[in-house]
Amino acid sequence: MAVETAAEVLRMEHITKVFGSAYANRDVSFDVCAGEVHTLLGENGAGKSTLMNILFGLYQPTEGDIYVHGQKVKIESPSDAVRYGIGMVHQHFMLVEAMTVFENIILGDSRSRGIFIDRSSRRKEITELSQRYGLVADLDQPITELAVGAQQRVEILKALYRGCDVLVLDEPTAALTDQEVEGLFEIMKKLTGEGKSVIFISHKMREVLRISDRVTILRAGKTVETFRIGDVTGEELANRMIGRQLKPSQYQKVESDKEAIAVLNHISYHKNSKHNGLNDISLQIRRGEIVGVAGVDGNGQSQLAMLLTGNIAPEEGDMDLKGSRVGRFDPNGFICENVSHIPEDRNKAGLVGNMSVADNLVLKSTGDRRFSDWNGFHLKKKAIRDYACAMQKKYDIRCSSVEQESRNLSGGNQQKIILARELESGPDLLVAVHPTRGVDIGATRFIHDTVIAQRDKGCAVLLISADFDEILELSDRIIVMFEGQIMGEYPGRNPPVERISLAMAGKGGE
Ligand SMILES: Nc1ncnc2c1ncn2[C@@H]1O[C@H](COP(=O)(O)OP(=O)(O)OP(=O)(O)O)[C@@H](O)[C@H]1O
Ligand SMILES: [Mg+2]
Repeated sequence: MAVETAAEVLRMEHITKVFGSAYANRDVSFDVCAGEVHTLLGENGAGKSTLMNILFGLYQPTEGDIYVHGQKVKIESPSDAVRYGIGMVHQHFMLVEAMTVFENIILGDSRSRGIFIDRSSRRKEITELSQRYGLVADLDQPITELAVGAQQRVEILKALYRGCDVLVLDEPTAALTDQEVEGLFEIMKKLTGEGKSVIFISHKMREVLRISDRVTILRAGKTVETFRIGDVTGEELANRMIGRQLKPSQYQKVESDKEAIAVLNHISYHKNSKHNGLNDISLQIRRGEIVGVAGVDGNGQSQLAMLLTGNIAPEEGDMDLKGSRVGRFDPNGFICENVSHIPEDRNKAGLVGNMSVADNLVLKSTGDRRFSDWNGFHLKKKAIRDYACAMQKKYDIRCSSVEQESRNLSGGNQQKIILARELESGPDLLVAVHPTRGVDIGATRFIHDTVIAQRDKGCAVLLISADFDEILELSDRIIVMFEGQIMGEYPGRNPPVERISLAMAGKGGE
């Protein structure tokens, strides 16, 4: 579209936001036109979510102004934002899990404040919206029963229901399957076709190039530049974003003949439940190799990861870990056997949000003599702090100090804390589930390098990822899961990509 002729709907000017002594945004300016997708691109911690939280009235800027249709406005709360036609889907969803889809959508709606709520007309309105935008949702389902993609649709419906001209989508695609991303892009196109605007945040360059009209790059809290998408390549954007050149990576594939660290023998778990069970899984993961699990999310991958970390026990079959039969499946026992886990949902299983970065880093090793005397009774504060500072440097965890509460860190930097903790213990088995989800390209490279280094040190790695490119890049062997079964196994060197894709859709296989 011709951005220059389109009307400006929104402008943020010279925005600065300081937390304590740290700048999250520093003199950031950008504008949004009617009918465009404007992407914010930047490394983890660059200040994208903070800027959007300011726009949505969750934070007040330390300095700077916001203009809506050329008028200077003060946005002091989300309800102000909604009044000015701004809707937002947050990086971490904010739905109330115990409530149904319908209840979540009408929650906080100003028209619902009276005693009398006309439920049936509300329902009708929401159903019409969902049909118009292809946002399929069962209004009576509780949120807990919804997959991530469906929750995403509810969040969007909620924003649209409140009425918005500008919709902010903060990393909406991080946890979506390829198919769901296509669905989301259709919705975005419909919105912009109607003259609405979308502010889009993503770390996936391919998506950014496809869907954006313009891109504004943020680096270390500052605006670097705004580009029209036709005028720039993905490589240029990446280089501008991280401020240096990123060379293409090339990892050596290996065929390990070392001993098997984990052996699964005919394992089944809820095998009749097609989409989250395991059906007769037999698999070996050897020292010094990366076994990649490809497949559309929700075909048993999560259960496989839970099993290998002791979080669930099989109903049939058995497992050997480092040469011994596993008698009891419990997560602590597996940790003692030096099994590391990068979990699927970092907020639920990976981090304790109200603990500091430092305490999260040593969470699993408080009994370690380096960090405590008397078996965990007395913590060596200085040793923990020194260690945390070293990790902060090594893993490039961007925080104001290691004492900062981890929930205040940007999404990608929270992921780096988990990585540091799980990789530094020198695991025998590493179960990595979507390890680079929501992580910027520079940090993704670092994580890949680190996982490869662990493999070369003799760690056995099971890598589960919805990102097919990541599986192809890192895996020494690739297995495909479909409806709880292993559809086939393929070499990581010169992998037969077409056959693997077919197997992912449940076709063919070996
Ligand atoms: N409530 C807060 N208190 C203190 N610091 C904060 C708070 N919120 C954000 N920050 C800091 O502001 C900086 C920018 O974070 P922000 O979440 O905006 O980054 P981001 O660009 O969205 O990153 P990501 O891609 O990882 O989501 C980070 O260094 C973060 O630690
Ligand atoms: Mg963010």
